[in-house]
Amino acid sequence: KTGLTTFDPGFNSTAACASAITYIDGDAGILRYRGIPIEQLAERSSFLEVSYLLIYGELPTQAQLDTFTSNISRHTLLHEDLKNFFDGFPRDAHPMPVLSSAVSALSTFYQDSLDPFDDDAVELSTVRLMAKVFTIAAYAYKKSVGQPFLYPDNSLGLVENFLRLTFGFPAEPYEIDPVMAKAVDTLLILHADHEQNCSTSTVRLVGSSQANLFASISAGVNALFGPLHGGANQAVLEMLSRIKDVEDGNVDAFVDRVKNKEQGAKLMGFGHRVYKNYDPRAKIVKQNADEVLKALGVSDPLLDIAMKLEEKALADEYFIERKLYPNVDFYTGVIYRAMGFPTRMFTVLFALGRLPGWIAHWREMISDPQTKIGRPRQLYTGPTERNYVDMSDR
Ligand code: SDX
Repeated sequence: KTGLTTFDPGFNSTAACASAITYIDGDAGILRYRGIPIEQLAERSSFLEVSYLLIYGELPTQAQLDTFTSNISRHTLLHEDLKNFFDGFPRDAHPMPVLSSAVSALSTFYQDSLDPFDDDAVELSTVRLMAKVFTIAAYAYKKSVGQPFLYPDNSLGLVENFLRLTFGFPAEPYEIDPVMAKAVDTLLILHADHEQNCSTSTVRLVGSSQANLFASISAGVNALFGPLHGGANQAVLEMLSRIKDVEDGNVDAFVDRVKNKEQGAKLMGFGHRVYKNYDPRAKIVKQNADEVLKALGVSDPLLDIAMKLEEKALADEYFIERKLYPNVDFYTGVIYRAMGFPTRMFTVLFALGRLPGWIAHWREMISDPQTKIGRPRQLYTGPTERNYVDMSDR
């Protein structure tokens, strides 16, 4: 933008890198994990199968998937001292910093799986993360509502266990709603990877210093928290609720404020650094939203407001000329809310989905002998050389 000549940062630095994991065509609205279109995976696969595909590069055989699933199920428990970690957080702590703190702390409890160049350690930290981050996420929610923690039940699948740990109580059995479990599984698939987005680039940057996988994923959680990134799904719900409560559901006034850029008003859940077309994930979420709410017996005026907003924006020159379309965050919050998740858990759910993608990118980066430590250069715009001035002369 300053007319500067570009400079080649070199591949596998932080400014640009080669990767074989996810392909996006932003103009055509294409997203493929290891070459397979997201539409087919959302329709026919499962979150654990997609996680295996992203991490190991191929769809698993049944035996490989069974082994991956059983390895993960054996690591859902947290060390008791880590469980006590939650006592130290304030009740009203946002679950995202709780998640990133507890994930970072994993490297203090599981020191036998830190070496990024030991294959067994990398496998062990992979399954530990895939299992324990779901338990940590559920405990972050329980802490925020002052309810007792449950222990995982390893006879359940990863998603079912997470729902039980989140919404179950020690005093009574928790009945898994298959519609809810399937909807969560599909949403996790849709969030599982997305090329070099802000949080994945953060995981690669931190990992490029040979920081262990737990530390690198914790950094990714923190990057995702931002409202321009994963925090957008929470911001969308807050925006829709404001339109409902303050503007009486009138989207016109809000859209005018966005177009006038009043107080930096943005149409949250719209726009994308790469997609200059409809985000293919948003299409699938929108299709599911109606079905899931009906199946859960929930009708939510916020879904109607979201659809009115989309219809108005997609017909408005301001958004069309700026190629602003709904992204993955625009409809997800309405579904999470219908499931009973509080708004502050929405970005945690995004992090759970993105976990296998982050792991896959860290493993790809650390296993590439060409990888250099991430060290972008800068364009210096400060003062030219000058001398120190004593206090008496200032
Ligand atoms: C995710 O990278 C990824 O892959 C991320 C992600 C993933 O899976 O990891 O897809 C997940 O982060 C999705 C994005 C979630 N964020 C939001 O929904 C927040 C709202 N969106 C914007 O903040 C914005 O669209 C970004 C940050 C997502 C993208 O911004 P860009 O492409 O850098 O666009 P820009 O800031 O250069 O804006 C271009 C123009 C500007 O107007 P003008 O100065 O030309 O007049 O478009 C306007 C912007 O003001 N604009 C918006 C807008 N987004 C851009 N105007 C109103 N509402 C918006 N949402």
